[in-house]
Amino acid sequence: MTLEELEQAKAACLAEIAAAADAQTIETLRVKYVGRNGAIPALIKAMKDVPKEDRPAFGKAVQAWKAEAEDAIAEKKTKLQDAGGGRQNSAHPCDATLPGRWTDFGVEHPISRVISDAARIFGKLGFTVADGPDIENPFNNFTALNTPPHHPSQDRTDTFWLTSDTLLRTQTSPVQIRVMQANKPPVRVICPGRTYRRDTTDATHSANFHQIEGLYVDTKPVSLADLKSVLAYFAKEMMGDGVGVRFRPHFFPFTEPSVEVDFTCHVCKGKGCNVCKQSGWIEIAGAGMVDPRVFEHVGYNPKEVSGYAFGFGVERIAMIKYGIPDIRWLYENDVRFLHQMA
Ligand code: PHE
Repeated sequence: MTLEELEQAKAACLAEIAAAADAQTIETLRVKYVGRNGAIPALIKAMKDVPKEDRPAFGKAVQAWKAEAEDAIAEKKTKLQDAGGGRQNSAHPCDATLPGRWTDFGVEHPISRVISDAARIFGKLGFTVADGPDIENPFNNFTALNTPPHHPSQDRTDTFWLTSDTLLRTQTSPVQIRVMQANKPPVRVICPGRTYRRDTTDATHSANFHQIEGLYVDTKPVSLADLKSVLAYFAKEMMGDGVGVRFRPHFFPFTEPSVEVDFTCHVCKGKGCNVCKQSGWIEIAGAGMVDPRVFEHVGYNPKEVSGYAFGFGVERIAMIKYGIPDIRWLYENDVRFLHQMA
């Protein structure tokens, strides 16, 4: 091969590389020209047959061709990969040696997870999910719930009043009123949602938090024992085996009798530990038998119906279940924290 022929062959080779439109072609050209048995190595091997005086010039030209061909092939490969052509056309659709593309998967927020778990657990017992607005009127939030205007919870320092007859609901209990007004008994619902109180934010308080209300009203007698068995089932399903419930007498204007509900501490199973402050119990919910006054307010006849209601804080369950020491972590949207909940 003369020097001139070599330059022609090189030009043809570079033109072929430039024209290659897919990864497969580029690979074929690589093998053809620079591969171990390719044209360029063959020329290098044939060097000894070139007249001695031509050898340096010829050698230089072959090396230049090799370098240019390799560069052109590498460049073309990247171009095709960037364009996606490498993937679509190559016989090897995936190059496992390339760094992977990072996909950042999200996780369900602990608050959403507690709500969806509760909906699933109560769903198995026949409860459906009801909804109500965050902006309520005082009748639904207070009056119908047998909470008179002088009650401290109506105070301007406790409730976010928007106008004299609209407020941000302080509890999910007003959804009880809406559900009973719209439906004849039996009703069996849970109502998850946001609630608002004028609390100063600290590790355990937030002005905006979530509750899940529960309500069961029927024309056949409903008892405190029914309430206890339902909450006991919920406790076990939500917090794990060995978690039971305890009722303590309490007062709510809209239930009579009223109780506060404790779950056995899920960490020590009742033996006493730091989480339950050595008591073996953790306060979870308020509950009781629906007060006859409430039935009157929604147009039910208290002589014909009976029922129970309960309400618990979603953040509280999330915090004890997942060991979250500060309620504010739930609202800061720090993905490092959320990923720990995965
Ligand atoms: N609404 C009450 C609260 O926010 C909880 C509760 C609901 C109590 C239903 C009894 C029945 O504290």
